[in-house]
Amino acid sequence: MINNCTELLQYDQDHIWHPYTSMTNPLPSFMVESAKGVHLQLASGEKVIDGMSSWWSVVHGYNNPVLNNAIKQQVDTFSHVMFGGLTHEPAINLCKTLVELTPSGLDKVFLADSGSVAVEVAIKMALQYQHSKGKTEKTRLLTIKNGYHGDTLGAMSVCDPVNGMHQLFSGFMTENYFADAPQVSFGQTFDENDLVSLKSQFEQNHQNIAALILEPIVQGAGGMRFYHSKYLKACRELCDQYDVLLIADEIATGFGRTGKLFACEHANITPDILCLGKALTGGYMTLAATLCTTDVAETISKGEAGVFMHGPTFMGNPLACAAANASLKLLIDNNWCEQVSNIETQLKAELLPLNSHENVADVRVLGAIGVIEAKYPVNMAFIQKMFVENGVWIRPFGKLIYIMPPFVIKADELTKLTSVMANVIACEQVFNKN
Ligand SMILES: Cc1ncc(COP(=O)(O)O)c(C=O)c1O
Repeated sequence: MINNCTELLQYDQDHIWHPYTSMTNPLPSFMVESAKGVHLQLASGEKVIDGMSSWWSVVHGYNNPVLNNAIKQQVDTFSHVMFGGLTHEPAINLCKTLVELTPSGLDKVFLADSGSVAVEVAIKMALQYQHSKGKTEKTRLLTIKNGYHGDTLGAMSVCDPVNGMHQLFSGFMTENYFADAPQVSFGQTFDENDLVSLKSQFEQNHQNIAALILEPIVQGAGGMRFYHSKYLKACRELCDQYDVLLIADEIATGFGRTGKLFACEHANITPDILCLGKALTGGYMTLAATLCTTDVAETISKGEAGVFMHGPTFMGNPLACAAANASLKLLIDNNWCEQVSNIETQLKAELLPLNSHENVADVRVLGAIGVIEAKYPVNMAFIQKMFVENGVWIRPFGKLIYIMPPFVIKADELTKLTSVMANVIACEQVFNKN
């Protein structure tokens, strides 16, 4: 066992892959010793305020006593049983809550182990559905550019082809259809021309399209872009018109992040298939869910296989379900709507004025998401160190410096995050301007 911090970090650097990182020239990682509320205590001594909610997931903060207790109680009952032929109360109550909370009509739930797997499940549902209906030529997906849906191969095949470097996997990965990303932002005046590319994809390729998959309203890791609710509404209508299923990937947007419990509510639509993950367990355990309508579920079940062809080992893990049940109750008990609305008001007040800064291309806020899009890409090693030295944990990518803090963040803690963001954009060494 290594217990010396320097040696641990050296081993980490020499042997362990981190997300999207080189093994020969990795960026440094910071060691976390403990975490509580919105704070991460680093082994190097700094205590930083988390602006990322560990990638959208830790909405109730770290080391939350309610979530801790839920998991401890479940550990003492049982930690795992196979879901084939067995079932249990934590999973049943979780699925019941999800059916009740999500847009009406989504009545059947498949529990998956991670967001990417939930997307794979959604894609397979769409393909099996079309197959069962005898539409065997509907074997492709339609999506919009700048999307992100995960890193497994099916999910990757609907991520933005440029950001996702599809050329590396060509020959193996399915080729899907891509419409131009919507350009009219959330809250701007809608322009029907925004739909031209999408409509033309439907017109030309609908015979081959099983489903349209997209992140409703907020495109996350593919560019932190917010688009118009009328675009989403039109997606629903076009899917109905062309007999194409609509898959809403709410893995990042779900559970209040955009100011609605689910981003689909901004357009008052119900997708045929809905993917959830991340904040589902308050960031405690890996768990995701794919919900679908009764029509989708029954059509699949009447098809050639007679069953849905998926069943992971850790499906419906009781510890994860117990965490999710406690997290969803906390969401309601803590009044997520007020938490998110307060964060939104404060983010608007503190970030929008930065729009006029010479290094800034755009600033946008929606719900508990605040984004500064710089004119230049950031120097990751420099900016990461600067953030930590200034007491915050913010992890930009490309030209995007953004936060989606835990919903439990206090006003002064949020001000700390936004003021460091303001300092950072004024610092010339932060940007690669050449
Ligand atoms: C919209 C969306 N879909 C899917 C995923 C993949 O989820 P996971 O990383 O849990 O596999 C992500 C992760 O960032 C996401 O933002």
